[in-house]
Amino acid sequence: MNQLAGKVAIVTGGASGIGREVALQFANEGSKVVIVDINEEKGKEIEKLIKDDRGSALFIRADITNPYAVNELYSKVEETYGKVDILFNNAGIFLEGRLTHELSFTEWKKLMSVNLDAVFLMARKALRYMLKNGEGVIVNTASAVSDVGYAQQAAYTASKHAVAGFTKTLALEYSNHNIRVNAISPGETETPLIDWYSKEELEAVLADYPIGRMAKPVEMAKAVVFLVSPDASYITGTNLFVDGGFTAK
Ligand SMILES: NC(=O)c1ccc[n+]([C@@H]2O[C@H](COP(=O)([O-])OP(=O)(O)OC[C@H]3O[C@@H](n4cnc5c(N)ncnc54)[C@H](O)[C@@H]3O)[C@@H](O)[C@H]2O)c1
Repeated sequence: MNQLAGKVAIVTGGASGIGREVALQFANEGSKVVIVDINEEKGKEIEKLIKDDRGSALFIRADITNPYAVNELYSKVEETYGKVDILFNNAGIFLEGRLTHELSFTEWKKLMSVNLDAVFLMARKALRYMLKNGEGVIVNTASAVSDVGYAQQAAYTASKHAVAGFTKTLALEYSNHNIRVNAISPGETETPLIDWYSKEELEAVLADYPIGRMAKPVEMAKAVVFLVSPDASYITGTNLFVDGGFTAK
């Protein structure tokens, strides 16, 4: 408890799934939490949950693929809390499985805009605040498929490999500024992102998981809290696989 007292943390995709759980865990640890999402109804729900529990939270509706919206949201954070200590750069989308020759360029670009462009836009601005602050921590959400290929998911897999490379590079660039940057790579996690799997598809996916089940969002959140906490003070540039053994094969 209270490992993050006094900190200001931004969570993108904080209205649902992994981001929602991370927002709640950050608040439990004493952090002020900024929930950023396009889903206003669910985002406000999390804001209320945290406030009802005597925490401090601010929901900001923003499409983080838009650089102007990103600038505006950081201005709101500055007005409200005056600084940024932690960024959980997590919002992401997934496409229905399709072979690459059937993938449209529009779908490819849409996925890249959320899973990669927005990760850059959010991190770039956070780094400016962190450099002023003299410290900071960023955790980017990659995926178990940030290190292996995954048939019928070329765009998603490419975007997550890119997030892993981006993470390592930021770690190199900012370690001497007291800013740590890591990634988390979840395996299949029970969130709306993968709701559309049929029962058969899900069984086939789980057959690849030595642990034999999906993760709960809280199992990701605990790892993220560790990475942003002082307990991880010597960890930067790593990609932490929380994937039930998927990539151990
Ligand atoms: N669930 C899994 O099995 C799994 C596995 C590996 C990696 N991931 C990654 O974890 C992250 C979170 O996924 P999740 O499973 O919690 O999904 P989710 O769908 O439950 O949550 C994603 C959130 O991101 C928000 N979002 C989407 N586009 C946005 C935009 N342009 N601007 C602002 N917000 C936006 C959505 O509204 C949603 O609330 C993603 O990056 C995903 O790729 C998930």
